[in-house]
Amino acid sequence: MKAHRIAVIAGDGIGKEVMPEGVRVLEAAARKFDIPLELRTFDWAHCDYYLKHGKMMPDDWFEQLRGFDAIFFGAVGMPSKVPDHVSLWGSLLKFRRDFDQYVNLRPVRLMPGVPCPLANRKVGDIDMMIIRENTEGEYSSVGGRMFEGTERETVMQESVFTRKGVDRILKYAFELANRRPKKHLTSATKSNGMSISMPYWDERVEAMAKHYPQVRWDKYHIDILTARFVLSPDRFDVVVASNLFGDILSDLGPACAGTIGIAPSANMNPERTFPSLFEPVHGSAPDIYGQNIANPIAMIWSAAMMLDFLGNGDVRHVAAHDAIVAAIEKVLVEGPVTPDLGGKARTPDVGKAIEAALA
Ligand code: NAD
Ligand code: IPM
Ligand code: MN
Repeated sequence: MKAHRIAVIAGDGIGKEVMPEGVRVLEAAARKFDIPLELRTFDWAHCDYYLKHGKMMPDDWFEQLRGFDAIFFGAVGMPSKVPDHVSLWGSLLKFRRDFDQYVNLRPVRLMPGVPCPLANRKVGDIDMMIIRENTEGEYSSVGGRMFEGTERETVMQESVFTRKGVDRILKYAFELANRRPKKHLTSATKSNGMSISMPYWDERVEAMAKHYPQVRWDKYHIDILTARFVLSPDRFDVVVASNLFGDILSDLGPACAGTIGIAPSANMNPERTFPSLFEPVHGSAPDIYGQNIANPIAMIWSAAMMLDFLGNGDVRHVAAHDAIVAAIEKVLVEGPVTPDLGGKARTPDVGKAIEAALA
């Protein structure tokens, strides 16, 4: 088997602390399941690089990365030194858009051993797949400032919804819902207030649903959907949303399931024309950076998702994914766990325990 080529980019803040644990478990799983990997570390796409070079990445970043099968990514952001829109549009958002990683898959599950902040919820009550459109929608660079510095100062930022962009994410979501036991899909909308883009989104959902008669589907305005996530998370299976709504739901969901410190994500180009990117849902967490108390499980679970994607259905890769998730579950129950889960463990303690559980 040809080795999977993986670009490793740790980024900023706790990205640098959780990445070694992600790599530790990734390599352990690859050894155990005999999956050849070729890892290469890149020391750019972080804010120290920006402070030195005036840009987040070298000009030929696209050529340097495009031959890789995947990018294993920590987190970017150092808002005290570099404005967030500069660092993120100079790195992560470029990867997502230029490598056409249009599916952002974010599983949310209440895991055994994790205290749930919602009353009377048990394992199994929260088990959903958030599918976030990842290349267009509200995240656009269309717009601008006019009459700056005057009383007429005006700022506009457009949302962009293309038929291709909307249909391909909905198709992915319906396909996934169709493969899951509950066969249920929820679409996040806001067609009462946003009178152009969201009615269009709703129309495309309705059209796509016709191809999947086995899938039950519903839609909620995003405001009440956030309330339902808290009050009745067991109602949801696959949740599909535009870029911004999906971003919000994918922090809310993991918080309802205990901590964002364990939430993984896969930014996928399903056609495999370009590398896909695997990263925690969380950011660089400057508030805890330097203490080595960040939970590395989101990073480690993202490694599992990466192996699954790279295997493209191969049984050994599926087994490696399942074994990592089982090792995570074991450590969540038995410890050690980091402070976000009420423990005292440090980042490497958790990584090492998961590696041991895997063996
Ligand atoms: P954040 O996710 O970095 O942190 C939010 C809160 O969650 C913080 O209190 C943090 O300590 C905690 N937290 C996050 N990850 C944790 C972990 N693994 N273990 C324990 N606690 C954890 O979000 P923020 O504070 O809004 O953003 C900080 C920076 O990260 C900003 O620059 C932002 O733009 C960036 N960011 C980057 C990404 C990314 O690279 N994918 C994602 C989100 C935010
Ligand atoms: C995420 C992050 C990013 C996003 C930011 C850092 C641009 O919040 O991956 O969820 O909004 O997509
Ligand atoms: Mn986010």
